Amino acid sequence: MDKLIIQGGFPLHGEINISGAKNAALPILAATLLTDETVTVSNVPHLHDITTTMGLLGRMGSELTIDERMNIEVNNHNLRDYFAPYELVKTMRASILVLGPLLAHYGRADVSLPGGCAIGSRPVNLHLDGLKSMGAEIHVEGGYIRATANRLRGAKLTMDLVTVTGTENLMMAATLADGMTIIENAAREPEVVDLARCLIQMGAKIEGAGTDTIFIHGVDKLHGTHYTILPDRIESGTYLVAAAMTGGSIKLKNTRPQLLDAVIAKLREAGAEISHDDTNIVLEMNNRRPEAVNVHTSPFPGFPTDMQAQFTAMNCIAKGSGTITENVFENRFMHVQELQRMGARVRLEGNTAISRGVKQLNSAPVMATDLRASASLVLAGLVAKGSTVVDRIYHIDRGYETIEEKLTLLGAKIKRVPSALLN
Ligand code: EPZ
Repeated sequence: MDKLIIQGGFPLHGEINISGAKNAALPILAATLLTDETVTVSNVPHLHDITTTMGLLGRMGSELTIDERMNIEVNNHNLRDYFAPYELVKTMRASILVLGPLLAHYGRADVSLPGGCAIGSRPVNLHLDGLKSMGAEIHVEGGYIRATANRLRGAKLTMDLVTVTGTENLMMAATLADGMTIIENAAREPEVVDLARCLIQMGAKIEGAGTDTIFIHGVDKLHGTHYTILPDRIESGTYLVAAAMTGGSIKLKNTRPQLLDAVIAKLREAGAEISHDDTNIVLEMNNRRPEAVNVHTSPFPGFPTDMQAQFTAMNCIAKGSGTITENVFENRFMHVQELQRMGARVRLEGNTAISRGVKQLNSAPVMATDLRASASLVLAGLVAKGSTVVDRIYHIDRGYETIEEKLTLLGAKIKRVPSALLN
């Protein structure tokens, strides 16, 4: 497994382009299963999860072509298989997103249960309950979801919890159902809105995406389209925190500042000077050390759980004491023990990480456990004394396009070393 070696102590300066949002690209690629016509998706990030999704669609019989600018053309008119195997789904939980489209368009789906991951048990009961309410026959046996439906019918679905992919799965299924579906307590994430926009371009009748109640009036057929993915707000937030931690100043291009209100507010509270227009964000820290902040994660438009690990790392080197409370996932503090190895004075009390900032962390060999935890360890390495080695960085390759190139562009001293060279 590759490792990243980071030499700490270099403030970040410069500008980078932000890639397309992973968590919009994944449901939108799944949505191509809703039509027999060609769907072209642009601004797709070059990430391992995207490759995995293309592999899943390809094994079902999708015809995919991809160009050097990561425009992906998908045509499913020859789809011959409705099966998502465990060995693939276990590497990427978001594979569950093919369930709704397969059921809605082909009337059947055999999808492996995703299983848990480092950050939690991550059940999909709300996805299945919603599809059952829409008339699907669903049996879970041998670790697989076996689902059939003649034609799904519209239903009123009140979600017990706000679930992003649950909302996305049910919204996709409802586009071809007979009648009206109402999703109450729906997720409001920008990636849900991006999916809805793509579905509407394909002929779906959807209102209310981005609010907590979404109305979907089923149609008989969806057609092809060309859709461009929105910028990745979590990648944007991660680089803003990197600049704040290193005392630098950076400009993010091709991003969407209005999707980052909660993150920008907290960074300003930490002492960062931030200005932006519609597509660019500038953060200046002018060698100041950030102030510690208190954060509570919650569904959009609250503070995103996907930015929690990065802010935990920032609090570890900030002035004063701060608390980070994780309210979405039950085990999303795996990075804390690694940060402690680097000399951070941070401790867990229930679902809260309490830190007292130190001036400088010490480099250490650390291990990534999940996507955003690995990002927080890279950020910690940027400010640690000496050279930090982050292992198991396949986690990071799932969500950050060319992270070492982008950080090098900003002046970081970071390199990727295939682990074979390290032994
Ligand atoms: C999506 O995961 C994102 N992934 C996650 O990003 C993100 O952290 C999460 O939403 C929260 O914003 C994708 O979009 C591909 P949830 P998802 O369903 O949909 C519970 C990253 O870093 N729940 O909104 O799986 C669940 O256990 C990833 O890019 C149920 O109990 O998250 C959790 O506690 C990590 N039953 C809470 O709801 C269900 O049926 C929110 O989960 C579904 C969810």
